[in-house]
Formats: sequence, C-alpha cells, structure tokens
Amino acid sequence: MLLSSKGQEHLLQFYDQLSEEERDSLIHEILSTDFSYVTRFSEKDTPPCRGEIAPLHAMRIEEIRSREEALRAEGLEALRAGQIAAVLLAGGMGTRLGISGPKGCFDIGLTRPVYIFQRLIENLMIRVRECGRFIRLFIMTSDVNDRETQDFFRAHDYFGYDPSFIYFFRQDMAPAVSEDGHILLKSRSSMASSPNGNGGWFLSLQRAGLMDVIEKDGIRFLNVFAVDNVLQSICDPVFIGAVLKSGCASGSKVVKKTSPEEKVGVMCLEDGRPSVIEYYEMTDEMRYRTDAEGRRVYDYGVILNYLFRVPDLMRASGMKLPLHFANKKIPFVDSEGRLVTPDQPNGWKFEYFIFDILKALDSCLPFEVEREREFAPVKNASGQDSVETARALLIKNGIEL
Ligand code: UTP
Repeated sequence: MLLSSKGQEHLLQFYDQLSEEERDSLIHEILSTDFSYVTRFSEKDTPPCRGEIAPLHAMRIEEIRSREEALRAEGLEALRAGQIAAVLLAGGMGTRLGISGPKGCFDIGLTRPVYIFQRLIENLMIRVRECGRFIRLFIMTSDVNDRETQDFFRAHDYFGYDPSFIYFFRQDMAPAVSEDGHILLKSRSSMASSPNGNGGWFLSLQRAGLMDVIEKDGIRFLNVFAVDNVLQSICDPVFIGAVLKSGCASGSKVVKKTSPEEKVGVMCLEDGRPSVIEYYEMTDEMRYRTDAEGRRVYDYGVILNYLFRVPDLMRASGMKLPLHFANKKIPFVDSEGRLVTPDQPNGWKFEYFIFDILKALDSCLPFEVEREREFAPVKNASGQDSVETARALLIKNGIEL
C-alpha cells in the first residue's frame, strides 16, 4: 500500500526469494525510509535560483588582534558557564580520500599513530584546560560508519576525553534513486542509500533526542566543524567572544583566499541573508571586485567551522531546507538480481548543505583566521588538501608526527 502510493513496489520484487530474516530487515528498512526525498525529486523540487549576491564584511585578523583580550574573556566566560557545545560532523563517506572506514580513524602519523579523531580531541582538550571543564561533544556518524566510529573511540579510551561528555548520533540516510526516480536496490533485500549531507546535522540531532541535553544544560551556541581539518580549532574563545559581541545568530571561520581563482566557497549575502557562493558560481567581475581601499570584497573562504545560536537553529529547523540532487554512479541490483557497477552516472543521491542553514538565519559574522595555523584539510589521497599537505602543516605547527 505504502509502496504502491509512492510508485516503489519494485522494492519487493525479490521478496518471495528472501529468507525470513532478510524479509524482516527489508520491511524494517522500508518502514524507516523517508520517502519525501523521492517525492521532492519527482516534483523537481530543486534549490531555487540564486538571489542577489552582495559582499559580507569579515572581521579581519588585524581587528581581531586589537580586541583579542576582551573577546577571549567573553568567550571563556561562556565556555566556563557551559553555554557552548561542540558538534563534530563525521557522517561523510570520505570517498576522495579513498580509504575504507571512517575518515577520523585515519592515521596521519609518521613515527607514531596520530589519528584524525585524536588530533581533534587534543585540540578540544586545549579548551578544556583553558576553561577548566569538559565541553559537551556531539559526534554525528552515519549508518555506514557509526559502529566503527564508536568502537574506535572506546578502544582508544576516548583519547583522554571524559566519555560522559560525548554523545554519538546517527545522521539520517536518504534513498538513492534511478534516473526515473525509482529507489535502487543495493542487494535483493536492501535499498541503496547515502548520508543526507552535512546540512542534515541539526534535524538528526533533534531526532536523536539530544535537544534535551542542550536545553537542560542551557547550551546557547553550537560550534559545528568538519572531521577532516587536522588543525581544527574547536570552541575557540576569541571566535565565540566575537560572535557574542556582534549579536549575530551565527559565525563562520574564514580564511583569506590564496588567489581570486581559489576553488573555495566564499561568504556573502544573498538577498540580504548570510550565504556562501561556490567558486564556480562567481563571475570574474565578482572575483576581482575591490572596495574603496582596494581590498577584494569576495575574499574570504569558508572552512566548515561555524557557531550557531540555538534558538535561531530551532526557528530555522521548521523551514524546509533546499534539497540538492547529485548525479552519481550507484551500484544496484538489476531485475535479474545481478549486481551492476555502472561506469557512468546512473542515478541520484540527495543532500542538504550546511550553507543553507546559514541562509535560514538572519545574520552571520565571518571571522578571519590564519590559514596556516587553523586549516589543514585532509580531502584527497595526494596533491592539494591531501595527507601530505596536512602533514606538512602539522609539522609547521610543531605537532610531532
Ligand atoms: P565533505 O563535503 O568533504 O564530504 O564533508 P565527505 O563525505 O567527507 O568526503 P567526499 O566528498 O566523499 O570525499 C565535509 C564534512 O561534512 C561531513 C564530513 O564528514 C566532513 O566532516 N559530512 C558530509 C557529513 O557529516 N555528512 C554528510 O552526509 C556529508
């Protein structure tokens, strides 16, 4: 009934051939699937065209330095009062790095093990020592890597962090569909699906019941960051102080672009709201536009380290986020039950983007940080933003590998 109303009856095409256990598992999967992704795909509910883009002034390093002491004091006060928590986004597939298992379990060390998760916890421990208390840490995993991630933390004694301050939650999965909108089967008894993008984190956190912790503890801001930056500065009191003093609903750490052509998303305003414009959406006129002092106005790239004010997130979570469709090669089982691994894109995956959460909020403070001290992304196996470049930056920052 459910399936026929959605045009997805084919999901049961091998039902008669399945074992009892496989049947139960398939039915459970179907019943826990959010079909709204498929409906939005069939209704071509794609993100709207971009609105009017305008520059958004960033707080630059010189200004931050001149006010650093006062900003730090304000941030530390909020940390000491337990008003700030951290959210680690570790639900991604990390396909570009090409390793099996969660990206955070990757060992970037040379002469000793230095796991990515370990690096992040070491950085968070700097704050714990500074503010004299453990900070709540929410870790988003996905169905694909949850078990391995939790086992890894346990096996390493949470890298010295107090486990009673750590909360794992799984991000929602989105079904993957064929070109004509039919959900693909990855086996006779299981549907193809993928994590629903880094913009899904707040809804997943709410669904996991973690708002109770946030409300009970009086947490006012969440510092949300990516797993793959091994120099990630987490719960930075100067950043927190700057956002608090600005009165903005959010803050975004940004780095000055290395050149106008750098392939990075840039903070901007879109129809008067904070937003991020992708490098491929920018015209040359935008890339090179300068202000009265000759400074480029679209010059600050995002590094996926945001501060969000909780009541504003709650308000925004009632809004429908744009859903992005990505045309991908998705292995599937054909009508004969044979596994097919396509060499061309054959279907669609669905993702929410964290940028769209920013846009749902009224204001954002872009906060400039020193690239070499805070940004060492591990995205690729080699070349740019790779294990080698990240290692070089770690060594430059005095971190023994
Ligand atoms: P990326 O956009 O780099 O994606 O994620 P990825 O999945 O890690 O890597 P590729 O593109 O497959 O190579 C940026 C951050 O967002 C998280 C990632 O774990 C990383 O911290 N993320 C991404 C999620 O938590 N969930 C997602 O569905 C996607």
